Amino acid sequence: VDENAFQDNLLAWYRENQRELPWRINQDPYRVWVSEVMLQQTRVETVIPYYERFMEWFPTPEDFAKAEEEKVMKAWEGLGYYSRVRNLHTAVKEVVESYGGKVPDNKKDFSSLKGVGPYTAGAVLSIAYEQPEPAVDGNVMRVLSRVLLVTDDISKGKTRKQFEEVIPTLMGGTPPSEFNQALMELGALVCTPKSPGCLLCPVQSQCEARKQGVQQELPVKGKK
Ligand code: ADE
Repeated sequence: VDENAFQDNLLAWYRENQRELPWRINQDPYRVWVSEVMLQQTRVETVIPYYERFMEWFPTPEDFAKAEEEKVMKAWEGLGYYSRVRNLHTAVKEVVESYGGKVPDNKKDFSSLKGVGPYTAGAVLSIAYEQPEPAVDGNVMRVLSRVLLVTDDISKGKTRKQFEEVIPTLMGGTPPSEFNQALMELGALVCTPKSPGCLLCPVQSQCEARKQGVQQELPVKGKK
């Protein structure tokens, strides 16, 4: 792809069309982190009220670190996948105890925290700290498998790795927070699984799958 055209079109679209979401009001790394953990297995519309309440109850890492287990579980009740919040609680306590309450701004330290995998690390470092790290979730894999005509199975770790490797190049010098969230937003709003809105897509001219008319067949998703 022509990376400059891709970046320009994607970012111009994002600046016009991004949703106002409560985790986008600032770049506080704790707020971004909590949002990314909630969003990992839960849809945006479901997350919003939980997220708002969580931030009222626990506005800072210190507030969350000192919270009773019972209140922590109450905050998550209904979201499911409770290991997410247990790990997050452990990790935020560690941030308060070992890092003075400042979420680490480097991959090594941040990734060493409980429950922080490559996706969460990439999302927080790019969205909160503007580091050019990839944040590859299902939406991003769908968009990029189409734009770049990647026919490898996206359930395979190797395929995800390939996406992580091309993203810094695709991102170029654009703001990492906007670039990564623009890919997620395009996947959520336009480049949807079933009937992608190619006619409304800002990067239709850069999309290899569209050129070949195979956007509906991608991504290829088998078993792990
Ligand atoms: N899904 C995962 N992270 C997201 C984000 N930052 N904004 C919207 N949807 C997301």
